[in-house]
Amino acid sequence: AFLGIDIGTSGTKTLAMQEDGTILASTTFEYPLSSPKPGWSEQAPEDWWDASVKSVRKVMKLAKLKPADIGGIGLSGQMHGSVFLDKSGDVIRPALLWNDQRTAAECDEIEQKAGGRKKLIGMVANPALTGFTAPKILWLRNNEKKNFDKTVQVLLPKDYVRFRLTGDFATEVSDASGTLLLDVVNRKWSKPLLGKLDLAADLLPKMYESEDVTGGLSASAAKALGLNAGTPVVGGGGDQAAGAIGNGIVRKGVVSATMGTSGVVFAHSDEVQVDPEGRLHTFCHAVRGKWHVMGCVLSAGGSLQWFRNQLCQSEIAAAKKQKIDPYELITQQAAESPAGSEGLFFLPYLTGERTPHADPNARGSWVGLSLRHGKGHMARSVMEGATYAMRDSLEIAKSMDIPVKEIRLSGGGARSQFWRQLQADIYGQPVVTINAEEGPAYGVALLAAAGTGAYKDVVEACKATISVVTKTPAVAAAKKTYNAGYPVYQQLYRSLKDDF
Ligand code: XUL
Repeated sequence: AFLGIDIGTSGTKTLAMQEDGTILASTTFEYPLSSPKPGWSEQAPEDWWDASVKSVRKVMKLAKLKPADIGGIGLSGQMHGSVFLDKSGDVIRPALLWNDQRTAAECDEIEQKAGGRKKLIGMVANPALTGFTAPKILWLRNNEKKNFDKTVQVLLPKDYVRFRLTGDFATEVSDASGTLLLDVVNRKWSKPLLGKLDLAADLLPKMYESEDVTGGLSASAAKALGLNAGTPVVGGGGDQAAGAIGNGIVRKGVVSATMGTSGVVFAHSDEVQVDPEGRLHTFCHAVRGKWHVMGCVLSAGGSLQWFRNQLCQSEIAAAKKQKIDPYELITQQAAESPAGSEGLFFLPYLTGERTPHADPNARGSWVGLSLRHGKGHMARSVMEGATYAMRDSLEIAKSMDIPVKEIRLSGGGARSQFWRQLQADIYGQPVVTINAEEGPAYGVALLAAAGTGAYKDVVEACKATISVVTKTPAVAAAKKTYNAGYPVYQQLYRSLKDDF
């Protein structure tokens, strides 16, 4: 069996998977996130380690596995976070996370030192965004000089857990892509950019492909986890690339649309393809020698969550009585309104937006309200707005000549037939769902299986374990309505952006 450990933002999930892909057990241990100042977002790396130890021990027990049954471990985690270590390997200060917004000045500094946005994209395939790792390192240098001077190694969240597991400073290409310090084309650290930023190359760990074994469990880690020393640990992946593996997004033409709190569109690509405007991220994939492009909508399902919490108290109470999920009642109301919500549009920018606008100041809006509109229209327009936002990323991918032949849905947006249909109608093509729902932890368990020889490679592992279970074609009339609504939706941001 193989273990997948995903160091998420709300908790660490560990699962045990049999070689044929069957999930034997999975469990999650949660931890807090702290925001010491507005826009700051931090966690204690020790909490990740504790949750990893506890979840591995619990999964081993639930699945009734013995240490010798474990053929390998894969690691996944929240991307972009920065763990600063001193020369004894101790954590210097809490890690800055992917959703921390304190680094606007450092993003400007990076662009300027790189010789402009275009040159920066030329070196690392992406523009500087506040969430990425490089601006966090510069923030430490600019604001906590003493801590910066003590720092000898900067690790991503899952790679800190790797360090505790094997004692190695190592990372892999998919997660490293989100640091803004990776030469994404050549899959190695960008010496030119490190030079321009005056950062020592040995601050960063050794680079591997995601499938490669980076080390084995140390005796002390093995004891803590109740596993055998020497158990191989593979590179694994950033949570998006790992989740894509778990969805079988490992060949050209297959794209995922994951509607969770945030919404992510993820497309595999055989060559490096860069959006010259930097709207989609271009990162290395966790498939050896391949890449992906990715768009991230910050409040996709999160918009409907907000609608439920703020405006649906009566539905929440009714659902409680009927022992059903309040989303079922909200969706029923939405379904009573026609496609296009009779001219009501919702912009889902409740937490600003990353793709396609990279605009922290963008805000959510309803436009087009009339006396005719009721709560059902409002619910439907929220779902339509979130889905139009995902279409933005699909359209950019298509404009980069990345084929979108099959769209695989996952997350909350894949669970109801109504939202699956709405997505098919707005994307204007069929959408499918697959048999696996476990996300990144499953993806890295597959990488562990492939990397330790159970499969030829991770593409074979996906082929053997993942299959399509539902297919929802678009309905012609609704598709037509949404094709007419989409340019209006796009224009609304352009009209409103200076007023946000
Ligand atoms: C990816 C991203 C998030 C984090 C946290 O670019 O910012 O998905 O990895 O999950």
